[in-house]
Amino acid sequence: MPAPETLMKEILVRIIVTGATGTVGRHVIDGLLAHGATVRAVTRRPDTAGLPPQVDVVAADLDDPTTLPPAFVDGDALYLLATGDTSAAIAAAEAAGIRRIVLLSSASAGFADDDAGGAFHRSAEDAVTSSGLQWTLLRPGMFAANLLDWADAIKEHGVVRAPYDRALQAPVDERDVAEIAVNALLYDGHASAIHTLTGPQALSKSEQVAAIATGAGRSIEFVELTPAEWRDEASASMPGYAIDWLLAYWAKTADAPETADPTLGRLLGRAPATVDEWAERHREAFR
Ligand SMILES: NC(=O)c1ccc[n+]([C@@H]2O[C@H](COP(=O)([O-])OP(=O)(O)OC[C@H]3O[C@@H](n4cnc5c(N)ncnc54)[C@H](OP(=O)(O)O)[C@@H]3O)[C@@H](O)[C@H]2O)c1
Repeated sequence: MPAPETLMKEILVRIIVTGATGTVGRHVIDGLLAHGATVRAVTRRPDTAGLPPQVDVVAADLDDPTTLPPAFVDGDALYLLATGDTSAAIAAAEAAGIRRIVLLSSASAGFADDDAGGAFHRSAEDAVTSSGLQWTLLRPGMFAANLLDWADAIKEHGVVRAPYDRALQAPVDERDVAEIAVNALLYDGHASAIHTLTGPQALSKSEQVAAIATGAGRSIEFVELTPAEWRDEASASMPGYAIDWLLAYWAKTADAPETADPTLGRLLGRAPATVDEWAERHREAFR
């Protein structure tokens, strides 16, 4: 982390955090507070946000532009979630005098043009990069937090049932993503940067399960299903479009496995967290 004198505006920096109650957002809030920043959190449900008392929590909805001006007023920098059309949020940020924007995009923005998730995140990126604001794009790969989707099955049955074992992914610890976001919001050196952020190891699904078993300190069986078997099982708890996207994503990464990108370690100045380390922190979810 750079020396404190390179902070944008020392301790008076006011950072607006959208997605503040989310997977990465909660860690962004904690990181900003640890650096002495003044933080305003944007949420659609302030009553249940459960954020630290020093945070100014405001109600606003990124899908309702009329709610944004009071949420963004007096902000210096904005941590923005990619929800649908971000152009209204960017216009509100410019009108409020915000100078710097860090967008939580996705590695899928770097995928082929026909990838639906990629197109969604690319349109958010295009609105940011064509604004007059100083910008940084964060493109994380699969969050390690997604592994919590297996937590109930592991807790109840000690088993993970999934297709495409050989579809390698490099799960990234959301706390590491947040550390880069905090750095990019508060410090110079990230202007016009596109950071692809993955975890340190590309792992098959059975290797991800083994890493959770090590971190959580328990045994877990992996059973590989066919795509059709998994579709049947998943349809009880997941919408069809999500099933389609995941199956297409895994089929693609089975043929062209994801690799671990060194950018995150370089930016952190240390090794990013492994899945074992992440699982050890979340061991109660799996036991
Ligand atoms: N999951 C992954 O593996 C992954 C990987 C790469 C990129 N991403 C991207 O990361 C982002 C977060 O994903 P996630 O699945 O982990 O979700 P999440 O952060 O757990 O939850 C969504 C967050 O978005 C906020 N939000 C949603 N719609 C909003 C709106 N209209 N106005 C204001 N706030 C809104 C929610 O705030 P309130 O409910 O408090 O209003 C909540 O804080 C997504 O853009 C996703 O594409 C995810």
